[in-house]
This record gives sequence, C-alpha cells and structure tokens, in this order.
Amino acid sequence: MCGIVGYIGEKEANDILIAGLEKLEYRGYDSAGVAVISKNNIININKKKGRVEILKNLTPLLGTYGIGHSRWSTHGVPSDRNAHPFTDQSNQFAVVHNGIIENYLELKEELRNEGVEFSSDTDSEVIVHLIAKNYQGDLKEAVLKIIKRLQGAYSFCVIKADGHEIIGARNGSPLVIGLGKKENFFASDVSAIIEHTRDVIYLNDFQIARITKENVEVFNFQGEEEALDVREVNWTLEKAQKQGYKHFMLKEIFEQPEVIKETLKVPIHVQNNFSRIIMVACGTASYAGLVGKYIIEEVAKIHVLYEIASEFRYKENLLTQNDLIIVISQSGETADTLAAVRLAKEKGAKTLGIVNVVDSTIAREVDERIYTRAGPEIGVASTKAFISQLIIMYKLAFHLAGKEFDANGVVEKIKETLAKHEEIRTLAQKYYLYQNFLYIGRNRNFPLALEGALKLKEISYIHAEAYPAGELKHGPIALVSEEMPTLAVCPRDSVYAKTFSNIEEIKAREGKVITIATEGDQEIKRVSNDVIYIPKVEEILYPLLCTIPLQLFAYYIAECRGCDIDHPRNLAKAVSVE
Ligand code: M6R
Repeated sequence: MCGIVGYIGEKEANDILIAGLEKLEYRGYDSAGVAVISKNNIININKKKGRVEILKNLTPLLGTYGIGHSRWSTHGVPSDRNAHPFTDQSNQFAVVHNGIIENYLELKEELRNEGVEFSSDTDSEVIVHLIAKNYQGDLKEAVLKIIKRLQGAYSFCVIKADGHEIIGARNGSPLVIGLGKKENFFASDVSAIIEHTRDVIYLNDFQIARITKENVEVFNFQGEEEALDVREVNWTLEKAQKQGYKHFMLKEIFEQPEVIKETLKVPIHVQNNFSRIIMVACGTASYAGLVGKYIIEEVAKIHVLYEIASEFRYKENLLTQNDLIIVISQSGETADTLAAVRLAKEKGAKTLGIVNVVDSTIAREVDERIYTRAGPEIGVASTKAFISQLIIMYKLAFHLAGKEFDANGVVEKIKETLAKHEEIRTLAQKYYLYQNFLYIGRNRNFPLALEGALKLKEISYIHAEAYPAGELKHGPIALVSEEMPTLAVCPRDSVYAKTFSNIEEIKAREGKVITIATEGDQEIKRVSNDVIYIPKVEEILYPLLCTIPLQLFAYYIAECRGCDIDHPRNLAKAVSVE
C-alpha cells in the first residue's frame, strides 16, 4: 500500500508534498516523510513515525522539487528509522517506494558484502543503494538497470541531489503523473494532485517516467519512449472533503441515496454468451459479489460461483473461454483482484470489472468495465462503494434475465432508514462495551451479516463473526451467552420464519439479540432485545435497506469507543500488496 507523491516546479515543494500525502493517508498512516532538494543541491529529509500532520510541525524544507511518502508497514515496524524516503550512503539519491521487493534479502546481502550499511529494516531501502551503485551519469538509465534486479510489485520515485528531475517506475503498484504549467507531479492516486491539475497520465506496469519542471517522458522497461496517454479527471476536490461531517465514513454513509440515484443510471451491456459466472473480489467488495450471486441466481437463473480473490489466484479454477469472471473493486488497485483478472485473461476467460475508480489498473485491464458512481470514497471502511456495487448487481441480474430493474422508490426508503441514525446511535451507546458479536442472516441476508461484522471489526476492533443463521446450531451457538450479543438480519422475506426460529434459539440460551426487521413486525419484538426497523419494500430489495443500519451501528459503536474511524489501525484503503 503506502502513498507516494513527487513534485517538481517553481513553488516550494514541502507544503505541496505534505498536502498530497494527507490525501493519500488512506493508503497507510504508520509514518510519513518528505525529501526536498535545496538550492545548493542537498537532499534534506523530514520523516517521522505517525500521521502526516506531524510533518507540519517540523521546520519546512526549502526547495522546489522533492518526493514524499506515507507508509503502511510491511517490512519493519512503524518507526522513524523505517520511514521513507531513504537515501544512499553519500546522500546523493532519495527514494520512496510502495509495494514489496520480494528478493530484498538477497539484494541486501549482496550490497552488505560490498560495504553498504543499511539504516532501516525495510525491503525498500535496497532500491536506493542499487541506484547509487548503478548510476553512471543518467538517473533514468540507472533505474532501467536496477529494475531488472527487483522482484515483486512496486512503484517508486527517485531523485538525485543535482538532478532537477524525478524518475518514477511502476510494476504492480499504481503511479500517476499530473501535468501542470511549469510543474509536474507523481502520485499514487489523483486525489493527491487534483488540487493542482486534472490532466493526468496513468502509468502502466513496466513503464518508467521522467518528469522535469517543463517536460514529461514515458518509457517502457526496455528504455523505449512511449506515447503519452493524457486523460482528464472528472471529479472535483469538494467530493473528497468532509463537508462538515465528523468523519468521511459518516459523510459517505449519508451520500448513499445520491450514489444509488447515480448508479441506477449506469447502462449495462453484457452479453449472455457464457456458461458460468465467477464473482471474484476481496473484503466488502466480495460481499457485494456474494449478494450478486444470490440475486443473479434468483432473477436470471444463471449459476454463479463466488471466490475470494486471494484464494482464487492460487487455486485450480478449471477456467475456460466460456467463463465470465466478474471482479468487483472500489479502488481498482487491489493486488489480489488484479491478479485474478490477469489469471482469467491468461486462461482465455472473459473479464468484467465493476470498479469505482475510473481508469484504475483493474478498470484498464479488464475486457469490459462497468463503473459504479460512488465518487471518491476516502473512509477506509467501504460504505457507499458497497451500495453502488449492490445496485450494479441488481442491474446486472435483471439485465441477464432480459428485464428492466425497477428500484421502486428505494432511494426514498434509504433516506427514511438513514433518518433513524439517532435511534441507532442510542442503541450503540447500550452495546459498545461488548467485546464479541455474532451476526446472522439467511439467503441474501447472509452476505449482509458478513459485511456488518466486517464493518464492526475494522472500525471498532470488536470481535465479530458472521454466520448463515441456520449454521449456528452446528457449532457457533456454543458461543452464545449474555456476553455475546447477536445482530440478526431478519426482514419480512421468504426466509423470515426460519431466521425467526434461529433468533428464538439464541434467546432460549440467554443471548441478547438486536434485530433488523421490517416496519410493522411486532412479533419480532418478542424474541429481540432491540429492534431496528427498516421500511417495507419488495423482498428482493431488502439487502439495500439492511445495509444502512449495519453501517450506522458499526460507526456509532466505534464513535462510542473513541476509535479513529477514518484511519482504523493496521488497515489501508487500497490494498496493493498481496
Ligand atoms: O478497493 P477494493 O474494493 O478492491 O477493496 C477490497 C477490500 O480491501 C475492501 O473492501 C476492504 O475490505 C474494506 N476495508 C472494507 O471496508
């Protein structure tokens, strides 16, 4: 993961780099650092363990070009010592890196034998020493030489003390160039530079680029110059700001009616000429895929397999040219999901990406793409992207069935559900001290139980497990006690009576139950300690409505516990390492 920024121009680089890093903090926030080259060609560095804002308290570095980094630790604990940028021993080169250098131990050993002393425990530091060793008057050439030695996925930027240029390289981790007037940028994603420019070039894997104040050049890994593919970013900075909300996550939860409206407009043109659909994704996106499996099988009567991308990529999937692999990803950069795309293409299967970030790597690599219209999602916990993925699942299911999806006033019902936020907040105040939760649901509600439990885990650090409601008696019911409440997703649908019985089984064992139920359902009160009511809708639409209380419940529990909701520990938004 990690975030990278580079700036070269006529303005002071320090503040531009730090502001860019703040936008990239969602990618990791273990440490942050900037390297700026002074007028007299000296590389000066500020770097510290902790959040980017710490850099603002340090004496600003003077100079008009430099690089910056926010870290999500892979090799070496979060510390000042392991913070990027890294320099070589003569302080002539500085590097920031995102990704993993898999053969770093071997390279480190080799460099150590040649007398190099390392100043960190990271895999990244080998890059700067290799560059210093291979530099013969041209930084781009040195980079071209050393990338032949690097194994793994990475993007990195490098500067030289008297270079007046920044070189960036990409193999597996994102890197974008921003084009300005008498200034140019590198960044892990456009949010870091959109304040300055909307004209960008997304580097592809196996490309390097050289940017100067006036010029941008892109080359392949063989050193041959390539054409510049300039694109315009179509969203605004305001969309990526909190706009008065306490957290991005809360803002994004409340944006969902608008997101649904927008995503409902997305046209679907998928041909029905395949024998199997396989949904592949990670985390929340995978739960959207699982809801999709239930809905497509129900509406379009097509068999759908569901796979977690990190498993899919290393197992025998018996793929054929007749398979349609649907990958779902908010960021479009998730390493495992991207690997699934590449594997599927290698086997000749068709790939369809359901992606939020326009022109992201997955969006560019799939055969066909459908963009969700969630807008920039900044909160690490995915919310509005999930609902937009669900909408696409519905649209796809109905399209494959040759029917039109009628969302039937769902936007208004979602607004009604959001209006219950104070009620859900009060409920959270009652439950926030519990250490364990069970989440249950049947049929289409089961993936929602998974998603609700994931939300609670990631932002409140409460242990939560989700099960199909009918599975409880096969083991997990042993966990039920006064100390472990259950959140049951039980709207009035075709499996209502079955889930109701499971809730009764929990009550009979003195378990506390919070139920998400349909307005007007009085019976459910008898077996629940607390009920969150959602409006009545057509049965198939319940997953959309049930999503809202699950998100708000997790949010308010985390708020009660004083958690850093937009920056949950150990996590990062874009998981570009496997
Ligand atoms: O960007 P992607 O949708 O591919 O990300 C997949 C998961 O990493 C992501 O959904 C993750 O589980 C979120 N933290 C969930 O809130």
